[in-house]
Amino acid sequence: MKNTLIEREQEVMFQNYRRLPIEIERAIGSEIFDISGKRYLDFLSGIAVNALGHSHPGIIEAVKHQVEKYLHVSNFFYQEPQIRLAELITEKSGYDRVFFSNSGAESFEGAIKIARLWGHAHNKHQMIAFQGGFHGRTYGSLSLMDKPIYKENLGPFLPNMSVIPFNDIEALKQAVNDDTCAVALEFLQGEGGITHADPAFVTELMNLKDHFNFLIIADEVQSGVGRTGSLFFFDKYLIKPDIIVMAKGIGGGLPLGAIVTNDDLAKLIDKGRHGTTYGGNPLACVAGIVVMEELYKGVMNNAREMGCYLKEVLHQMMDAFPEYITEIRGCGCMQGVVLTCESAPLVHELLLNGIIANATALNVLRLLPPLTITKAEIDEFGVALKQSLQTLISKGVPKG
Ligand SMILES: Cc1ncc(COP(=O)(O)O)c(C=O)c1O
Repeated sequence: MKNTLIEREQEVMFQNYRRLPIEIERAIGSEIFDISGKRYLDFLSGIAVNALGHSHPGIIEAVKHQVEKYLHVSNFFYQEPQIRLAELITEKSGYDRVFFSNSGAESFEGAIKIARLWGHAHNKHQMIAFQGGFHGRTYGSLSLMDKPIYKENLGPFLPNMSVIPFNDIEALKQAVNDDTCAVALEFLQGEGGITHADPAFVTELMNLKDHFNFLIIADEVQSGVGRTGSLFFFDKYLIKPDIIVMAKGIGGGLPLGAIVTNDDLAKLIDKGRHGTTYGGNPLACVAGIVVMEELYKGVMNNAREMGCYLKEVLHQMMDAFPEYITEIRGCGCMQGVVLTCESAPLVHELLLNGIIANATALNVLRLLPPLTITKAEIDEFGVALKQSLQTLISKGVPKG
């Protein structure tokens, strides 16, 4: 057997991930420890998954309790954890019904199916999504994405799908018509560089919806579950999309996704039409219940308030390093630092300074701390960011 986890992984696993060179030992709150005992501050949260941080005592307790009752019985049976979580999601969101899946892509696929069923009933066939959007790695999701790295040599994709420029009102007006069945979007693009939909663009989208009658699918996989200080990011536009796609944060670290919609659309998925063996697994659902409860006991407020503080710190950094930082995007615990150079070297430098963050859209440093992040931890991050930028400057990392 090889010595290190890194070496062993290289022997036996697909080499498809750009893993950070950290061999994980344990994680608690906002901290991750490697097997040598080195501590990292986690500004990635398992890519927006660990909403309550790592090893949240409430989640541990709930999962332990559930483990002792039953692990899996299948969706042939009625189960308290699923039903309670669906009650919480419908109560807090104002929507009627929930379908549980295991992941973001699986939820997005289900949303496409609902839209297609609705389209059949209304003789509408075309679906539209936006450049820079990310919806998962399955064929339905990929069909509504544009980035070549995800799609090259993988075609053909689903027909009647178009991907148009984001925030481009003219392109939107050109694309939608009577045949439009659904428009799918992340109102705050994560992989696309923490870019939000312009309010004017959203207003136009809603006007076009009124005129042509199509569905809006909101992909809240990354931005949802309180991450930006409200249950969903789209809440900030005071709109109500038809179908919401959830995952990541809702399972608090366990694999869980959800489709949330109204009665009429949920009815289109009649008995046997759609399903999943594991979706709504009771362990994931009990964790989800704790996440939902904690959100409304102050965690969502914390995400909002700490998000404002993080933004202040980032703006100070932008003032101090104007030649490297041009913009701060996003809000709450989903923010992006737009750089004049590639963000990968900064991610590497931050790691050396004990901070885990990630690069997105080439030149954006993406920050996804747990929603439980503290002011002291943000200060610690700020010191490390300053140090990292200074080191890069001293090394002469190219600008622009
Ligand atoms: C907005 C968005 N949608 C969908 C997905 C796909 O989720 P999953 O990886 O759980 O399939 C992701 C994953 O990053 C995402 O950020």
